[in-house]
Amino acid sequence: MHRRSSYLKFICLTCLVIFTLMFLTMQNEKNHISTFIEDMVVEDAPMEGLRKFYPDSQTSTSDRVIKTKTRYPAGMHAPFLINNRNMCRKYEKISALVMVHTSVGNFWRRKEMRRTWLNSSHYSPENLQVIFLVGTTSNKTATKLLKSENKKYHDIIQGDFVDSYRNLTNKGVMGYRWITENCMNAEIVIKIDDDAFVNFFKFFEDFSFLKQRKRFMFCNKINPNSMPIIRQPSSKWFVSEWFYKGRDTYPHTYCSGFVVFISTDLIPALYQAVFTAPFFWVDDFYLFGLLPSRVKNVIHENFRGNLTFMHPEGLKCYKELKRKCKYLVMPARDKELDVMWKAVIADRQQSIYGNYYMRERSIY
Ligand SMILES: *[C@@H]1O[C@H](CO)[C@@H](O)[C@H](O)[C@H]1NC(C)=O
Ligand SMILES: *[C@@H]1O[C@H](CO)[C@@H](O)[C@H](O)[C@H]1NC(C)=O
Ligand SMILES: *[C@@H]1O[C@H](CO)[C@@H](O)[C@H](O)[C@H]1NC(C)=O
Ligand SMILES: *[C@@H]1O[C@H](CO)[C@@H](O)[C@H](O)[C@H]1NC(C)=O
Repeated sequence: MHRRSSYLKFICLTCLVIFTLMFLTMQNEKNHISTFIEDMVVEDAPMEGLRKFYPDSQTSTSDRVIKTKTRYPAGMHAPFLINNRNMCRKYEKISALVMVHTSVGNFWRRKEMRRTWLNSSHYSPENLQVIFLVGTTSNKTATKLLKSENKKYHDIIQGDFVDSYRNLTNKGVMGYRWITENCMNAEIVIKIDDDAFVNFFKFFEDFSFLKQRKRFMFCNKINPNSMPIIRQPSSKWFVSEWFYKGRDTYPHTYCSGFVVFISTDLIPALYQAVFTAPFFWVDDFYLFGLLPSRVKNVIHENFRGNLTFMHPEGLKCYKELKRKCKYLVMPARDKELDVMWKAVIADRQQSIYGNYYMRERSIY
């Protein structure tokens, strides 16, 4: 009897120790996962991407990610429906790569942009290159037109996702990926919306020093904890409780995405961060805030004084002050493009080769 009870005691004790150990391990695991998924939303995981960037993380890491069912905005092998992968390889140097977020239907606007301020031959010997980023549409005519547009200009990148407002994050990630894979010889990357206008004469003359910066974003900067997260389900900008639960403002510095200058060295790091940052549809915050927050030492610098969001104000400034106008960035869409371009080139000489003479670059 005595022997039996001490035997039972031994069993119980052993069980207790085992259970305690298991409990501690589980807690540890849970903590680990919860820091890892601090601000994640739900669904499947990009195994391939993780393997490429974290080759040491064997199945265990991937399994863990799968268990958390996190949805990421793009996989490593997501197809491009239209690609121009050799575009940048044709050149030794690219002074600036402009990536334009545009939608399939904006044919005329793109045409005007190519003719006016996005025409590289105007800035020779500077080499400006442009890619237009689009998703898919159910409109067959538009899809066909897009293909022939690309045949003519070779500057469209189309991803396999529906081109919609809530999919803009995918578009930005596609841009980061495309540059990482195909255009690391760009001296600087400039993300723009297709209703933006950048005075590239001014950029090459006065802002070339920006190309020397590393881990750098130059934009209309938004400070942490200043921008409200909209929680009313009726709003177009409604953000679900899943994301930053309990917070009412965005916790990281970010940029409004209208125009953002990004140092090229930062692009692969941002793309890598995509594989741990969960999908979040507010693209400005995701692309220029959440991803940079996962890369060390990113500097956001504000160009507020060199920006106007008002087309008439920008136009007036150029008409009156010519190249002394302070604006580097302003809006212009469709018919406004031609007017703005004419105001910007009004006091510039054009050579017989089509380029406008620029002031000597500032020495940096
Ligand atoms: C760009 O400008 C050059 C020189 O003015 C012109 O020949 C060319 O057609 C323009 N390209 C586009 C796409 O308009
Ligand atoms: C489809 O695209 C074409 C070309 O942009 C456009 O003219 C047409 O209105 C679109 N159709 C629909 C149903 O939106
Ligand atoms: C985003 O794109 C995916 C893939 O094409 C599609 O399934 C989804 O419906 C799109 N989301 C929105 C909100 O359009
Ligand atoms: C515009 O940017 C330049 C270069 O950074 C700066 O010197 C200038 O002060 C800015 N202008 C305004 C109005 O902020």
